[in-house]
Amino acid sequence: MNPLLPDMQQTLALLDNMQPDTHLLHVLHALQEALQCIPPAAVPAIAGKLGLPISQVQAVIEFHAFFHQSPRGQYRILFSNCPQCGFQVAGGNLLQHLRSLLHVKGDATREDGRVSIAETSFIGMCDHGPSLLVNGLPVSGMDMEKLDLLAILIERQTPVSSWPAEWMRISERIRLPGLLLQAAQLKGEAVQTGLRLGAAGILHELQQSGLRGRGGAGFGTAQKWLMTRDAQAAKHYVVCNADEGEPGTFKDRALLHLHADTLFEGMTLSALCLNAQHGFLYLRGEYRYLLPHLLDVLAQRRQQGLLGKNILGHADFAFDIEIVVGAGAYICGEESALIESLEGKRGIPRVRPPFPVTHGYLGYPTAVNNVETFLAAAQILRHGSEWFRNCGTAQSSGSKLLSISGDCARPGIYEYPYGTRLAQILQDCGADQPQAVQLGGGCRHPA
Ligand SMILES: Cc1cc2nc3c(=O)[nH]c(=O)nc-3n(C[C@H](O)[C@H](O)[C@H](O)COP(=O)(O)O)c2cc1C
Repeated sequence: MNPLLPDMQQTLALLDNMQPDTHLLHVLHALQEALQCIPPAAVPAIAGKLGLPISQVQAVIEFHAFFHQSPRGQYRILFSNCPQCGFQVAGGNLLQHLRSLLHVKGDATREDGRVSIAETSFIGMCDHGPSLLVNGLPVSGMDMEKLDLLAILIERQTPVSSWPAEWMRISERIRLPGLLLQAAQLKGEAVQTGLRLGAAGILHELQQSGLRGRGGAGFGTAQKWLMTRDAQAAKHYVVCNADEGEPGTFKDRALLHLHADTLFEGMTLSALCLNAQHGFLYLRGEYRYLLPHLLDVLAQRRQQGLLGKNILGHADFAFDIEIVVGAGAYICGEESALIESLEGKRGIPRVRPPFPVTHGYLGYPTAVNNVETFLAAAQILRHGSEWFRNCGTAQSSGSKLLSISGDCARPGIYEYPYGTRLAQILQDCGADQPQAVQLGGGCRHPA
């Protein structure tokens, strides 16, 4: 018996305070936070509470990097090992430095239970220098000296909420705003237009705009929404993929932070088009610090009549959005794995076809779109398809948000029309003598 394991009474008391319809991932997050682990003996109780098989709960715990069955430290540190914001710096190895300051051996929890330190892949802070997560919260801009202070704070048991505010502040470095980032946030304007045009009109506008998905595959958004709408079923679902896990990307983080209203507007527009009543935003575990902000925006939109029943006074339009927070699993960005995870299972991609547009969440037709795609769709309905078409190239309309980091003077978010030359981008971000550039996404560059 591990003496550090929490007693069952404490675990059962925590479970008692949770609603039976709480998402499995959220139950596990809450236990991990409160108890520093999910005790093996708690698994049958969790399964009983949620009405799930014990094997499913156990499998989900084992699947996710952020869940543990033996106690982690009171301070759980996860150092990002991504090439851009990682711990290997000119002055040495930050991870090794912190481990030696705090006398932590490898991934093991220190004997007094105070602290554990492990690596994690990419936490989405590449524009903020070496970064880590402490008890799920990002701490950025680390160097040897800051780690010296961090170790003292831990030894003195200073609560994370009292650590230097500037370490915990994740500001968005919008270096070059374009079509989407310059546009005002939307609070019903696009949905109003959607209500006037109807589903066919929304699809026509999106078709004319040429918008293609910004999640990587570039699938036509109008086509995806049409296929979902046309799939005959009792229910349809809208899902926003905010699992942004591709190393080096952080543009969805900025949109979730600065443009959440417009994102939810895009999801509501999609719901109007698909006749969906329920939507999910799947937020990557590394962005859990954004949850209070996102819940605030959702609450405001309910108060403003933009979510819930009778949206904008329309008795037959009801839609709401639920946020589900992941727990450190890159693969959950793949849409069918994401849907499995939404269903409370391990995020294992499904064999396709059938695709989510016909067989998605709980087997119902589901439109999964990236954060940026929903934002663009909402702004297209607000400003018209021409506004979008007039930006970019004949084959690729609109703009693209780029997350730029690495060996350059001005890391951050840049929004360019499709067709912008790479040389221009390197010049703008201050990459003077690049030896290599790693590109993501699918824009076409002129020769
Ligand atoms: C391994 C893998 C990881 C993915 N990760 C993401 C992701 O983090 N965010 C995202 O929007 N799409 C991701 N995708 C693409 C999604 O499966 C899906 O195509 C996308 O969310 C659809 O949105 P869109 O039509 O707006 O592009 C990933 C795909 C694969 C194969």
